[in-house]
Amino acid sequence: MNLPPVIAIDGPTASGKGTVASLVAERLGFHYLDSGALYRLVALASEKQGIDVKNGPELGLLVPKLLISFKNSQIFVNGEDVTDAIRTESIGLRASALAVHPEVRAALVGLQRSFRQSPGLVADGRDMASVIFPDAVLKVFLTATAAARAERRYKQLIAKGISAKLEDLLQDLQERDARDSSRGAAPLLVADGAKVLETSDLSIDQAVKTVLDWYQSAIA
Ligand code: CDP
Ligand code: CDP
Repeated sequence: MNLPPVIAIDGPTASGKGTVASLVAERLGFHYLDSGALYRLVALASEKQGIDVKNGPELGLLVPKLLISFKNSQIFVNGEDVTDAIRTESIGLRASALAVHPEVRAALVGLQRSFRQSPGLVADGRDMASVIFPDAVLKVFLTATAAARAERRYKQLIAKGISAKLEDLLQDLQERDARDSSRGAAPLLVADGAKVLETSDLSIDQAVKTVLDWYQSAIA
C-alpha cells in the first residue's frame, strides 16, 4: 500500500518550523501537523488538573482522556478552544518538561500518524523524521542561531501585543534547546538523511522555496 508522502520538518524553538511548514503545506495543498501543539495542550490540560510535570505515568494516562480536535487553525480540547492559551512561553517550557517522558510520547504517536492523509502531509516538531515518520520522502532540519531565534520570538510576541524581554526569551530558549536535545526519549537531532537548512540569514520566502525545491528533487 502506498501511503501519502510526508515532508518532515524538525528543529529547535523559533527556527521557523511552523511558519515554513504551514506555507509549504499550503503551496502543495497538503495537510499540516503542528506536533508541538499536542505537547502544549497536554501541558495546559495537566496544569489545570494539577498533575506534576515529573509524573510520566499519570501524564501518559491523561492523553487518551483528552478529546482533541482541529478546526481550521483552531484547536479544541474537550470542547474548549485552547488555540491561544497553549502559546504562552510558560506552557512551552512545561511542554518541553513533560515531553521527556516516554509515556507521554507513546500516547501521542497514533494521533500524529493519523494526520497522514491524501494527498500528503507536512509535519513539524522535534522527532517527525526520526520517530513518527521515518519514511518521510523529505526530511528537513530547520535551524538558526539562538540570537536570531530569540529576536524572532521577541518580534512575534510584540506584534501580538504581548510584552517580553529579549534576555528572558534567549534564556528560555536555551533551556528548552538543552532539554530537548539531551533527553533520552526522541531527542532533537538531525535525523539520518535529513537536509539542514540554516535560516538565520534567510527570509521566510527563501526558506519555503528551498524546501519546495528539495521536495521536487526528492520525488523526481
Ligand atoms: O515553529 P517555530 O517555533 O520553529 O517558529 P515559528 O513560530 O514558525 O517562527 C518564529 C518567528 O520567526 C515567526 O514570527 C516567523 O515569522 C519568523 N521567521 C523569520 O523571521 N524568518 C524565517 N526565515 C522564519 C521565521
Ligand atoms: O514553537 P516551538 O518550537 O517553541 O515549540 P513547539 O514546537 O510548540 O513544542 C513545544 C515543546 O514540545 C518543545 O520544546 C518540545 O519539548 C516538545 N515537542 C516534542 O518533544 N516533540 C515534538 N514533536 C514537538 C514538540
